[in-house]
Amino acid sequence: MISFELARQVPDGVDLVVEPVTTGAVPDDPVVKAAGFEGKPGQTVFLDGRLLVGVGGDLDDAGATRRAAAVAARAASRCERIATTMPATQAVAEGFALGTYRYTKYRSKQEPNRLRNITVVAPGGGARVRAALDRGARIADAVAVARDFVNEPGGELTAPVFADAVRAIAQQSGLKARVLNENAIAKADLAGVLAVNRGSSIPPRFVELTYEPETAARTTLALVGKGITFDAGGLSIKTADGMIGMKGDMGGAAAIVGALSAARDLGVKTRVRAFLPMTDNMLGGDAQRVGDIIRYRNGTTVEVLNTDAEGRLILADGLISAIEEKPAAVVDLATLTGACVVALGPKVAGLFANHDGFRTQVADAADAAGEPVWPMPVVDAYDRDLDSKIADLKNVGGRAGGAITAALFLRRFVPASTPWAHLDIAGPAFADDEDGENPAGGTGFGVRTLLELLRTFKKP
Ligand code: BES
Ligand code: MN
Ligand code: ZN
Repeated sequence: MISFELARQVPDGVDLVVEPVTTGAVPDDPVVKAAGFEGKPGQTVFLDGRLLVGVGGDLDDAGATRRAAAVAARAASRCERIATTMPATQAVAEGFALGTYRYTKYRSKQEPNRLRNITVVAPGGGARVRAALDRGARIADAVAVARDFVNEPGGELTAPVFADAVRAIAQQSGLKARVLNENAIAKADLAGVLAVNRGSSIPPRFVELTYEPETAARTTLALVGKGITFDAGGLSIKTADGMIGMKGDMGGAAAIVGALSAARDLGVKTRVRAFLPMTDNMLGGDAQRVGDIIRYRNGTTVEVLNTDAEGRLILADGLISAIEEKPAAVVDLATLTGACVVALGPKVAGLFANHDGFRTQVADAADAAGEPVWPMPVVDAYDRDLDSKIADLKNVGGRAGGAITAALFLRRFVPASTPWAHLDIAGPAFADDEDGENPAGGTGFGVRTLLELLRTFKKP
């Protein structure tokens, strides 16, 4: 973990000083000009022992300074000790720490980012400034937990391996963990997990996490995360190209684990229950067939017309389990639909909800955390697209509005009286190229939003 120090002046012996530059204050210098540096967010230029980073029009813009700090951290990756005159804020600490992330596990030549210590030069470094920097660094660590899980290959991070790793994290971070193995899953009648797992030679897991705050909480927030460790599509098999990246189909579960790993350190006061169904979606000889019907433990029956719409099948088990405990609200996170990526592009998550006030809570948390989400409609008129000829519902609507019909499917498992939000993170959970605070590969999307939501949560 990277450490931050506060000082009134740039100390001696630092390798580099990172200086923020707004578009309006670009130094008149030939080197800066030649580099095409205009102070735009993400631009950098080295200038005799200094690294200038563009922050755009406004030094107080948290999103821009977070991005700039991350870009600076990558540009300064060969330095150990640097100082910065960027504002001493949580976003800047987050940015630097997020920017140092590298997934080096499978490189024969390990070249981690060498940054260890950053001195933030601030006129008055009070306890609040100190706390903001610590918070930023701690959150970045939680994000790294999720990124590591998403980056791990599907052949390594199987459901049992994932569950064991989550148990270990729970132990370290003061969470209670209950891991249901295949027998316990059968006994608990988690029918969606069992159905999806039929095509696999590796058993499923269902992990329940509990975070109890130090002082007894009045309300519980339930979290449900999609934990498909590899999505081949099942018998409705994906194309070769469509399968690339599907090791990251547990990004929802990973975000929840990442966030909860920091809940105690960050003093979260809300009680949290998390439900994480885990399996791969394979095509073994006894894989679920197209036309099979799943009978859930709440009585609902589902006709499976596309085995590649498997996320919603396992999320239904998570939602049923969550609802049984009567939480104040439920949030699910899932890399759920390609349709959401078509709708919003690869960097924005779709936010669906059955409650306006709770939708606003989640949207505000995401905005404050700097994770792009956009509200999507849960269109009642499309609900009948899910009606089945022989069961209560089928698991696919049509091609049109695929992200919405997926949300409608999930809503069928949530009573209207329970505030529920659904984040479709199929786009932003995984990135092809680095951008700002996000590296290529797993981004840990959702961790920051969840931690902000946990900090600000009010019973809707
Ligand atoms: N895991 C995929 C969704 C996905 C697509 C995530 C692209 C990340 C990037 C999900 O299980 C899936 O296959 N969804 C189908 C649903 C369809 C069969 C109704 C899809 O989006 O095509
Ligand atoms: Mn799928
Ligand atoms: Zn999937």
